[in-house]
Amino acid sequence: MNIKDIQTAARIINDGGLVAFPTETVYGLGANALNPIAVAKIFALKERPSFDPLIVHIGSFDDLQMLSDQPAELVIKLAEKFWPGPLTIVLPKSRIVPDIVTSGLPTVGIRMPDNEIALNLIRTSKCPIAAPSANKFGNLSPVSSCHVKKQLPNVDFILDGGRTRIGIESTIVSIDGNVCTLIRPGKITIDEINDALPGVFVFNTNESHKLIAPGLLKSHYSPAKPLYLYKYHKTPIPAKSGLILHCVNNRIPDCERVIYTSRNNNLHEVAANLFSSLHAMEDDEQIKQILIEPVIEEGLGIAIMDRIKKAVFKYESIN
Ligand code: TXA
Ligand code: MG
Repeated sequence: MNIKDIQTAARIINDGGLVAFPTETVYGLGANALNPIAVAKIFALKERPSFDPLIVHIGSFDDLQMLSDQPAELVIKLAEKFWPGPLTIVLPKSRIVPDIVTSGLPTVGIRMPDNEIALNLIRTSKCPIAAPSANKFGNLSPVSSCHVKKQLPNVDFILDGGRTRIGIESTIVSIDGNVCTLIRPGKITIDEINDALPGVFVFNTNESHKLIAPGLLKSHYSPAKPLYLYKYHKTPIPAKSGLILHCVNNRIPDCERVIYTSRNNNLHEVAANLFSSLHAMEDDEQIKQILIEPVIEEGLGIAIMDRIKKAVFKYESIN
């Protein structure tokens, strides 16, 4: 990455503008987290409801101290184990964090991304950067700069870091005293979090947590054309269908186009290629509807199915 691009991007952040940048998960749409007017521009450009709080991205452990007074021992344990990396920790915020960032909640979600460009941008800007995924609210998450341009052509600047490595958003946990709750599944699994916190029971998300994670809606991440779940050789395939599969089989079903996310159900490959295959089908004018195979809901498969279920939610089943 060109150092000049980083400097230009940092200047835009410091002037209250918006910069899209790569992380290891998906592209983010960033603003200076301490500037409420800049943060308001994120909500406007994304058309995001104001009740959906933003994640603050940091470049050092000092930033964690600044954004939260006296982070709990559990927070430090998780941060030391998983940062930089795809884990967002929700914890009580300090007064320095503007209310617009947290949608008025007394807590803030913080993560240190594991991406050279993202860390360089935060450190050169010398401020924490609030950033949701760089897509229109409810649409497909971006895993390349082209995906960002497609949905947000008016963003002030895009740092291009190629395709993102992990491909789905970070795992989110909240820490309240000695209690850890999984809010959104991601690359880091609940088993890995349990292992990192011996003696602590990690709660899984349930209905009551909708209250603490207002952005978690049932419908999300949807392409601009109908998307259905596909059961191999059971689901009928209408004309002009695009099929997304995760394993190469001998007999290819009869359809307009097939994209494989993996040759052999490798869940890391499926996650890395999930949103890019949905974008490719969305962009293909020959395709009228998309069918996608489910994966087994274990390990990383839990996060992948979370995204797939939310993406198909608003479309009726064709079974
Ligand atoms: O990997 C990621 O996490 C990406 C990259 C750009 O870092 N970001 C991302 O942000 O996925 P976004 O805005 O698409 O999702 C943020 C979600 C919110 O919808 C909400 O569910 C949760 O994080 N969240 C943020 N702050 C919270 C808080 N204080 N309490 C509860 N949930 C919070
Ligand atoms: Mg998002």
